[in-house]
Amino acid sequence: MSGELSPIDTAKFVAAKRAVQYVEDGMRVGLGTGSTAAWMVRCLGERVREEGLDITGVPTSSRTAELARQVGIPVVSLDEAKWLDLTIDGTDEYDEDLCLIKGGGGALLQEKIVATASDRMVVIADPSKAVEHLGAFPLPIEVIPFGWQTTKALVEEMLGAMDVLGTDATLRMNGQAAYVTDEGNHIIDLHVKRIGDPRKLSLVLNQIPGVVENGLFIDICDVVVIGHGDGRVEVTDINEGTHEEERIEFVDSDNIFADL
Ligand code: A5P
Repeated sequence: MSGELSPIDTAKFVAAKRAVQYVEDGMRVGLGTGSTAAWMVRCLGERVREEGLDITGVPTSSRTAELARQVGIPVVSLDEAKWLDLTIDGTDEYDEDLCLIKGGGGALLQEKIVATASDRMVVIADPSKAVEHLGAFPLPIEVIPFGWQTTKALVEEMLGAMDVLGTDATLRMNGQAAYVTDEGNHIIDLHVKRIGDPRKLSLVLNQIPGVVENGLFIDICDVVVIGHGDGRVEVTDINEGTHEEERIEFVDSDNIFADL
């Protein structure tokens, strides 16, 4: 199978394959959203089908819910599960404190609620997601459609007083129309370029009327699993203070990744 995969897809796949090793029988598992998380859902589905792993999945988007059902993972809502053992999700950026920017796929609100309701969050990524300072990737915020232009103006004004390098904000589009999240809201992307104080920015953003949530994940992520194009993975656990490297062996046993 490795011959059919690009290095970036191999990196995402091995990170996903390693991360699903954290899942044990009986667990309630948050299922992230995005291209890397899609690999994880497939890998988890494979364990459910082949090992009879008995788990319940809580998806973070309608896309992920659909994929999870397709691969055989039983799906319930967060309210049904109430609290989760583990969430595995992708990220747009992570720094050395395992603070994240998420929401490039537009699912930040459900992702943040689900990850926060989990004993542990494991993030899977390829090496391009590592940054010294968060902010090169535009920071998404989810806003209520009512008065969104006023909300955007308030956010831009506030950014002028923050430790950031840019204050431009753009409404995310889906073709000619504003992008609409699973919760019926819009996304505004903040082109801040570099965030000096992510904790403060997150708190201040969430004080602005109309802002539902922002894509900064602070003190939520516990473990980052970085996959490489040659099959290596690096696992950093911020609670244990460990950093380990290993190699993921995989065989072309079936074709579960063909339609990704
Ligand atoms: C979805 O809203 C995002 O938070 C994704 O988890 C993030 O954008 C990473 O996506 P990729 O794995 O596709 O890069």
